[in-house]
Amino acid sequence: MEDDLIRTARAARANAYAPYSGYTVGAALETVDGRVFAGANVENASLGLTNCAERVALGAAITAGARGFKRIVVVTHSSPPAAPCGACRQALAEFGHDMVVEAVGPDGSCCWRLGQLLPDAFGGEYLES
Ligand code: THU
Repeated sequence: MEDDLIRTARAARANAYAPYSGYTVGAALETVDGRVFAGANVENASLGLTNCAERVALGAAITAGARGFKRIVVVTHSSPPAAPCGACRQALAEFGHDMVVEAVGPDGSCCWRLGQLLPDAFGGEYLES
C-alpha cells in the first residue's frame, strides 16, 4: 500500500548521492507522535565514509529531538526488496526493537519488526553489568 511514509522515502531516494555504487536508497522514519524524518544514502570517495539512508533519517530525527519510533520505510529498486544493513539495524535498535521495518521495491514490500531482523541485539544494558 502506497502511503505517505512510502512516498516520503521515495522522494528522498530521488535525492540520494550515490555516484560510486549507483545504488540509491530512500528512507522515512515515523515517530510515535506522527512526525516523519527522511534520509537518503550519501556516498563518499572514501567509500567507508558512506552514510546509509536509514542512519541519515535517524540522525535527522534525533537532531530534532525525536526519540520513540513507530515505523521505518526503506525504498530501493531491489527485487526482492532490500532490508536494512546490519549497521543500520544496530543503530535503529538503540531506540527500540518493536518498530516496524518495511522494505519497498518495484515488485512489492516486506515487513518485519526490528527485533526479528536483529535478534539478541547488543544494547546499553550490557554496559551496566
Ligand atoms: N545502503 C543504504 O543506504 N542502506 C542500507 O541499509 C544498505 C546500503 C547504501 C549504502 C551505499 O551507498 C549503497 O547503498 C550500496 O551499498
